[in-house]
Amino acid sequence: MIDQAIIEFDRALRTVFAPAQSVRPVPGDDLPDAAMSDSDRRHAAALMRVNHCGEICAQALYQGQALMSQDAAVRDELRQASREETEHLAWTERRIAELGGRKSLLNPLWYGGSLAIGLVAGTLGDRWNLGFLAETERQVEAHLTRHLDGLPDADRKSREIVAQMRTDEARHAEIATGLGGLPLPAPVRGAMRLASRIMTLTAYRV
Ligand SMILES: [Fe+2]
Ligand SMILES: [Fe+2]
Repeated sequence: MIDQAIIEFDRALRTVFAPAQSVRPVPGDDLPDAAMSDSDRRHAAALMRVNHCGEICAQALYQGQALMSQDAAVRDELRQASREETEHLAWTERRIAELGGRKSLLNPLWYGGSLAIGLVAGTLGDRWNLGFLAETERQVEAHLTRHLDGLPDADRKSREIVAQMRTDEARHAEIATGLGGLPLPAPVRGAMRLASRIMTLTAYRV
């Protein structure tokens, strides 16, 4: 128990403070860095900061849910999806740096909050746990579609990253549903949308 706690705590510290690694090549890596106005660049960096923050939350949610899940197959799927989330983390982190931006200062807070939510979702049993995951991924997918509209046209490098993330999130949602995830009640979906709205508005600035 203590060993497991140390491993999980180490995972949390690395997520928030250490640079993430990617196995897959970074999407759009072969594209040239396009000329952009200062305001476009700042806007793109802020959007990518929001996305990075979302990936920090994803790490914590998956960690919490994997910890609580009773089913080894579900735990495996959660760990596998969370490895892809780690890549998203690496891609967005790198893109923020290329754009001259910085990561959200509130990341430790978002991580802690999301871990708590993941642990609670995990206690409800695997079918609700997976339903929560599927709904989260679907909301992230919709959010990334909005970001594809909002990113400057010239910023093809960021667009490639966001597009690949969107593809991955859609697959994560399908996996969770396929494993038996239940559809969440509308008020819960609404509350989740509200929480992510608060996070995105805050992370755009801080
Ligand atoms: Fe992701
Ligand atoms: Fe995902």
